[in-house]
Amino acid sequence: MKTIGEIISKYRDRSDLIDLLSEVQEEYGYLSEDNMRIIEQSLDIPLVDIYGVATFYSSFKLNPAGRHIIRVCKGTACHVKKADMIEGVLDDLLGLRDKQTTEDGRFTLELVNCIGACAKAPNIMIDDKVYGELTKEKAERIIKEFTGQ
Ligand code: FES
Repeated sequence: MKTIGEIISKYRDRSDLIDLLSEVQEEYGYLSEDNMRIIEQSLDIPLVDIYGVATFYSSFKLNPAGRHIIRVCKGTACHVKKADMIEGVLDDLLGLRDKQTTEDGRFTLELVNCIGACAKAPNIMIDDKVYGELTKEKAERIIKEFTGQ
């Protein structure tokens, strides 16, 4: 694993910030406050600017991801077939309450635009497997399989 210092040494200034943050996230899985403070000091970029970039792009994560990533498709085909309802069911089942990752670190919920399975909308993807034609009952069954309840 590369140290944060090794990563930063490849970049010069704020014009490299997106690439730098991308590499830090690739290496560490997310952008920790500690690492952002080291970037602030090393490249003399105000922390507020680093946070600004990190929160503007949805691909950046400010917290570690859970062991399983659940991607809820909110693309047009899935939206029309009630993806909002599926998102609500998953929020309730996982007890997320506006958080992205469950307390036990087991699941992270992400919203995505299309996962390329529109014919089976509404869809979710858990890790690398797509679950299509979701209903409330089907979503509950799938989550119960993962949680063993
Ligand atoms: S819009 Fe959901 S899979 Fe394409």
